[in-house]
Amino acid sequence: MEVWRKFIVLGILSQIVGILAVILMGVWMGYYLGGFGWGYKNKLKFNYHPLLVTVGLIFIYGDAILVYRIFRKEKKLYIKILHMVLQLAAFTITVIGVKAVFSTHSDEDAANLYSIHGWLGILTIILFGLQFVMGFIFYLLPAMSEPLKAWYMSSHRYWGVAIFVMAITTALVGTMEEVGFKIRDYSSRPAQAYVVNFMAMSLVVFGWLVTYLVTKPEYKRDDNAYTSTLEEAR
Ligand code: HEM
Repeated sequence: MEVWRKFIVLGILSQIVGILAVILMGVWMGYYLGGFGWGYKNKLKFNYHPLLVTVGLIFIYGDAILVYRIFRKEKKLYIKILHMVLQLAAFTITVIGVKAVFSTHSDEDAANLYSIHGWLGILTIILFGLQFVMGFIFYLLPAMSEPLKAWYMSSHRYWGVAIFVMAITTALVGTMEEVGFKIRDYSSRPAQAYVVNFMAMSLVVFGWLVTYLVTKPEYKRDDNAYTSTLEEAR
């Protein structure tokens, strides 16, 4: 029981800091940096980028990672589908978020993929896409054999966490880049700097909590994650 109380407290805390990060990013983009807009040469289009990737590739992705820990007694198939639907939502929202920045660059005839942030970002998205496809092939297609599922599971787990950590790193590097572009008086600590710094800290704490909850053996589901087949799960 003690173990579960701790899980619930940390789980709730993860949601609070995750939502806080999204809200603070929304306040930064929506209030301090002028709000949101779409269309050719609309300067506010860029502001969708940080908000949408934070919602998709960090918050929803983090929660998708946690579903197997949260729903411990439900049928495995339902959780697999929930895991996949959340990842698909995370990917779709992220793609729109990245489209916002590519489209802003092309409106302004600016260079693409020149920065460390851009390189990290595109690598993270490619790895996320590969992880999704591999996960789908190994765990949702009925043809895959149990030994192959078992063989791939440790890689799937490792990369799931590694890509999540990369997403947070990418967001922090992108945040510093945007701070450099937009906050002239950062060192004099304007209110905007506090919003941005607390947002960044919330991302880091969200990352700690999700990775902690997902790697602690005592929070694992009762059944063995890779031995259940689609048939069993039904
Ligand atoms: C998981 C999170 C993120 C991913 C995957 C990501 C991905 C990317 C990619 C692929 C680009 C290159 C677009 C191009 O070259 O046209 C880019 C650009 C940019 N991003 Fe992000 N981004 C993330 C989060 C953020 C955040 C949180 C911010 C700021 C608050 C940000 C600020 C920027 C800026 C200023 C650019 C334009 C300059 C550049 O290309 O480096 N990004 N991002």
